[in-house]
This record gives sequence, C-alpha cells and structure tokens, in this order.
Amino acid sequence: MKFGHFDDSRREYVIETPKTPFPWINYLGSEDFFGLISNTAGGYNFYKDARMRRITRFRYNNIPVDDGGRYYYIKDGETVWNPGYKPVKTDLDSYECRHGMGYTTFTSSKNGLTAQLLAFVPLGYKGEINRLTLENNSTEEKTVSVFSLREWCLWDASDDMLNFQRNFSTGQVEVENGVVYHKTEYRERRNHYAFYSVNRPVDGFDTQLEDFLGMYNGFDRPDVVFTGESKNTIADGWQPCASHKNVITLKPGEKQSLIYILGYCELPEAEKWEALHVINKKPAKAMIEQFATCEQVDAAMDALRKNWDRLLSLYNVEIKDEKTARMVNIWNPYQCMVTFNMSRSASYFESGVGRGLGFRDSSQDLLGFVHQIPERAKERILDIAATQFRDGGCYHQYQPLTKKGNNDIGGGFNDDPLWLIAGTAAYIKETGDFSILDEATPYDCNPNDTGSLLEHLSASFNHVVDNKGPHGLPLIGRADWNDCMNLNCHSTTPGESFQTFGTADGRVAESVLIAGMFVAIGPELVELYTRKGMNDKAAAAQKEIDAMRETILTHGYDGEWFLRAYDAFGAKIGSKECDEGKIFIESQGYCVMAGIGVEDGRALKALNSVRDILECEHGIVLQQPAYQTYHSNLGECTSYPPGYKENAGIFCHNNPWIMIAETVIGRGGRAFDLYKKIAPAYREEISDLHRNEPYVYSQMIAGKDASRMGEAKNSWLTGTAAWNFVAISQAILGMKPGYDGLTVDPCIPASWDEYTVTRMFRGAKYVIHITNPKGVEKGIASITVDGTAISGNVIPVYPEGTTHAVEVVMG
Ligand code: BGC
Repeated sequence: MKFGHFDDSRREYVIETPKTPFPWINYLGSEDFFGLISNTAGGYNFYKDARMRRITRFRYNNIPVDDGGRYYYIKDGETVWNPGYKPVKTDLDSYECRHGMGYTTFTSSKNGLTAQLLAFVPLGYKGEINRLTLENNSTEEKTVSVFSLREWCLWDASDDMLNFQRNFSTGQVEVENGVVYHKTEYRERRNHYAFYSVNRPVDGFDTQLEDFLGMYNGFDRPDVVFTGESKNTIADGWQPCASHKNVITLKPGEKQSLIYILGYCELPEAEKWEALHVINKKPAKAMIEQFATCEQVDAAMDALRKNWDRLLSLYNVEIKDEKTARMVNIWNPYQCMVTFNMSRSASYFESGVGRGLGFRDSSQDLLGFVHQIPERAKERILDIAATQFRDGGCYHQYQPLTKKGNNDIGGGFNDDPLWLIAGTAAYIKETGDFSILDEATPYDCNPNDTGSLLEHLSASFNHVVDNKGPHGLPLIGRADWNDCMNLNCHSTTPGESFQTFGTADGRVAESVLIAGMFVAIGPELVELYTRKGMNDKAAAAQKEIDAMRETILTHGYDGEWFLRAYDAFGAKIGSKECDEGKIFIESQGYCVMAGIGVEDGRALKALNSVRDILECEHGIVLQQPAYQTYHSNLGECTSYPPGYKENAGIFCHNNPWIMIAETVIGRGGRAFDLYKKIAPAYREEISDLHRNEPYVYSQMIAGKDASRMGEAKNSWLTGTAAWNFVAISQAILGMKPGYDGLTVDPCIPASWDEYTVTRMFRGAKYVIHITNPKGVEKGIASITVDGTAISGNVIPVYPEGTTHAVEVVMG
C-alpha cells in the first residue's frame, strides 16, 4: 500500500494523506541553519548544533506523536483548520505535501479556501521562510483570521527538557512592530537571539504559551484561536512562544501571501544592546528586509533549485529501471547530503542531544557526498582528524559547535582510526588534491601539538598494528563498527552504558571485522606513501597487511565463512561452534571486499553462506541465529529482542558491503537483487509494512526473527545512505574515482543491455555509454574515448570544462 507517489520531474515525493504510518519528514537548510519538517508541518529548528543552539522546541516521545512545529491556524467562521492537517486535525477537502530538495510545500483546502505553505531555508541565510498563500476559490468574499505559532526552546535542548526549576523563570521576549524576539539568557552570557516575523502589520500577538493555549489545552485547542482573539501577552518565564494574528479579507478568486521568518542573530559583545533591556534588532531587521516580498522568496527558491540542479548533475544515470534512476539521481545523493549535515544528531529517531558527530560515522559519510561538495569534505576530514590522539586512537564523537571531542563517550573503538584513511583516500581520488596530506592537524584538538594529516593516517594504521591480540588479530576495544558488540564491557547492572562501561583496553577480545578493514583500507595508505616517494614506509605497511591477510585465513575463517570475533575469554563469535550468532554479515562483507579468499573459493563460500543463512525477502540480517538471551560477554547486541537492531535486524548499513563483495567475485545479478531489497523506492509499494519514508533509507528493517518483520526504523541519518551510493554508483554501475582517472568497471545483471552514466570528475564531464551485447555480468571488451580506443579501463583526467564521450562494450 502506498501513501503517495514520486514526482521525479520535480524531484519531489508527494504525500497524499496526512495519516502516513509514521511522520514522514524532510530537512531544510544546507549550511548552518536547519529545520526538520514532517508531513503535518511538525518539527523544529536549530543553528549549527541540535543540542546547543536549539531554536524551537520539540517534544520527542510525545503523545500524540509529532506535536509541535510551524503551525498556522486558519479560522474561517467557526471552522479552524491547518494546511498541514495537524494539530487541529479538521478533515480537509484536499491535502498534499511535497517534500523536495531542501523545501516542503503543503497545498490543502477547506470550504472554498486553498492554503499553500512553502517552507525552506534560503542558501546562506540563517532563517526559515514560511510563505502562506491563501486563495479564495468560493463565490463569496471571505474574511479569515490566521494565527501563527512557534514555541521557543531555551537554547540548550537537553537543559530545556530537564531543568524546569530554573527554566520556568528565565524565558524572555520583546515584541516590536509585531516581530517577536526571543532573548532568554541574552542579558547574561549569550550573544544570540531569535525572532519570528510576518511581513504585514499584525492584528494581535502572543508570546506566553500557557495563555495562548489555555493552561490545560493542547496545540489542537488553543484558546486564542478558538475565541478568535489574541491576548497580546509578553512572556515572563514559563514557556515563551511566538504567535501573530492576521485578519485577511479575500474577494472571490483573490490570492494573498504572508511571509513568516524564523531567524537567528549573533552579535559582538559591544553591540548587543540598543538601550538597557532593549536588544539590538538591526541584524534581524536586515534579515526581515531580505524577504519582504514574494519576488524575493521566489528568487531564493530559484537559487536553491539551481544549487540542487548542479549537485545532482554530478552523477546521473539514464537507465530503463526508473526506480534505480530515482534513487541514484535524486534521493540517495540527497540523503547523503543530509547525513553529511546532520551526522547522527537530529532526526525523528535521534533526539539531537545525545550524539554529536561520530568519528566513524562522519568518515564513512564522506564516501557518499565527497563528489558533491569536496571543499566541505576537506574541512570535515581535518575536523575529524583533529580529534585524534597521537597514538592513533580518537574520540568516538565530537560536538559540531565546538569541534571538540566528547569526553563522556571517550575513545577506544578500535575500528575508528581506519575510517579516516578510507575517507581521506576517497577525497584525494575524487579531487586529486594531495596537498591535504600536508595540512598541519592538531592532536586532541590542541593547536600546539600538530602533525600532518599523513602522519595522522600513519597513526591510524599503526594503532591497529600496535594493538593486536593473542591470535594476531586487531583488539576490538570498546567495540568496532558494531557499537553493540561490547566484548570488554561485561555489564550486569541496568543503566550502565554498554559503550563506556568496562575497560577499553582489553588485551584478548579481537575483531575479524577490523582485520578485514585493515586489509581492505590499508592499501590506500600504501598507495599514498608510494606516491609521496616514501617507499620504505610503503613496503613496511604492505608487509603488515600481508601478514594480517594470512592471520585472517588462519584464525579468522571457519570453514564456510569468516569468523566475527574472539571474546574476552578467547572464545569464537560467529562460528559454526556457537549455538547462537553462528554467522555475522560484517566480516563476510569486509573480508571479501578486501579480496581475501577470492582466489581459492573461500570468498565465494562465505557469500553463499550469507545468501543461504542470512538473507530474507527484506534484505540480509546481521547474524543468525538471533540471541534469545542476554550474554554479558557480548554486550548490547544481545540486549535487543531477536530480529531487531544489532540482534539479527536487517542493518541496512552493511547490506551494501555484501553487494560490493558480490561484485568483487563478479556476481552482478546478485548484487543488484540485494540492492533492490532495501532501496526505499523498491519498497514504496509496501509502505504500510515498511512504515518509514519510501524516499530515504532507514538504518534498520526488522529481520526474520521479529514479529514485525519488514518494518523499518531510524530513517534518514545512517551510513546506509553513503554505502548504498558507493554500491550502486561505483560497484554496480561501475564508475570508480581513482588517483589517475576514472576507472570503469561495471558489474551488473546479465539482463541489462545498456545504460549511460554522466559523471563530472575533476571538472570534466564524462558521458559513459555502456552496452552489454553478450549479456555478461562483468568484464569489458573495449573502451573508446571520443572515438579512440584506449587500453585498460582507466579513463584519464581531462582539463576542466571539457566533455568526453566514452563508449564501453562489455564482454
Ligand atoms: C551507529 C554506528 C554503528 C552502527 C552499528 C549506528 O547507529 O551510528 O556508529 O556502527 O549503529 O552499531
């Protein structure tokens, strides 16, 4: 069952009912100022940091779900309704929500009045624009009252939820010419305020939520709206909000627009005040002037569209399968950009207070967006590297506002350092910018203690070399990619964090996944050393990699598949000897991606075991059999009920590892079958089961042990986006950026006869037409560039601004 449809020509998902199985959201903003917006106009805004600069309030875990947002109440006679249906939930005569690239629109109607609400954050602007256009489609003149509503958050979203004894006394606003200024804590240590304006004189306002709603009412029954009279309240403590009242008269056929701005301003200390207790409103007024007219709004929307035209033109496929085209050309890169901006901080599953930017997560996200915004990828790499320690270890997370490592979580996740090598290599291959390796980069955020980025990468590599366990495999530390496999934690007391309890320095528990990563990612460093002329280092590193490969074959293979780990007592995990958790997905993916066992058939066996034991109709589950009881030697993964999350859920993040691994052994048909199982556009038809947005990946789909098998959770912010983009764009469609050019190496279903990829690479345009006359899955018979045959499959780097026609014949 579907709840909407794709409109590819406009790059929108069109939601046809407000009653989706879960709120289906979108993101507004591309640089510093962001908004989350659901298909009922719920959500909130923040500046740079979802915890420390939360601008509007949102209550997670609320009943009803998704209450609070950008609300416009239209009072037309005795009927009160909202263009987004919520919160009043009056039945609408029509409703449509379109989520597009950085904007959302609602078009709804009731009793002859149509309301269109457009929400977006203009490029380079620290504010969200909401344009509400009302059109009278009846034959009578209509006079309606429009009440807006935003609820302020007292800046630190965590403190805002917890510290009521203080917060109920601190809230402060000013109102001038109908603009509401939120200035809580501005009189002491803050240098920022927010404002909410409308571009015409108001017929009333409110700023104290309790008065606007009525003490015992919800958003669905505000006193002010239902009586039709604003109370002109000035908030003093309690819960500050911002509401305007505008009375609008529309002749039959007439249309009028109101432009609302939610903005954020920072001021230098010396310029904070106009007078005692009167804030300096100059920057806000300048922002308001920027969007006083519909022409200004249209121009900004146009600029936003053009920006996305450019971003999405960088990799484009023309292919018969429209769902693949939709994912590759629109939604997958869009999600990659959102995950780059948000990391794992703010979604409808991530509260924005708990997690900043993850070292591992953000490094992997790079793989998906580096071709879109290489300059920002560079900045991100250097920020991440700056949280690394001299010994190569690193903070697991850092706060985007301060860019400092998070001491509460600390470090000791022993896969983390390797991801930095992977992310940096991807950046250099995409851009050819080797200079990044020479950037002086702090250790532990200390500007007085720096090393070149290349030294950081060496430290990352050596961190594995220096931390091996009894079998010569890498020590796992607190966890590897699977944050919930906590082999040194041994927690038995409720409330202890699986990620920080116990020692990070266990000397026995080892990870075959990190070993596979080392063999897959290590060669990138060898290559960088070689290109820098550091041949001794390259040779020494290669020796370590070769040794690790041997160790995996000796101590990390279990007959039919790769082991997953050894626990703190030296017992095998992911072995045929185990009763539960006999086989895990991660090590099969990474070890085969590393090429281990490809020549002697062990890789093939491992992938066949994945197919036979782990795969189901909705994707590949993380392990089998699921754990039925809690095992303190394994940690959090065994705390989940069977079939969910890291206990045999379909963890979408590493399904693409298997897709890529399948292409390593040449099975393009298998790779694409696996792609289709989890790609959201292919799951649209089962939206009633899947429940999350059909236009973006979710982190997890409940696995075959779950009673809710097939149901997705944790949409949007997941490494799944980046990895699936790598799987489809590089491994399957076959365009792999390299140091010396673009390698063309498709691995596709035998039934595909042709497709064309247009790929921008280092400023030149490559139009690559692939034909498959013999119906093979892999292999190339010939390549011509601009009519001339080339040997090999690396298309060289061409001057910026040039266009090249590449003909590839498979066979
Ligand atoms: C985390 C990742 C982790 C994965 C598997 C995600 O929620 O963001 O860092 O690797 O779960 O546990």
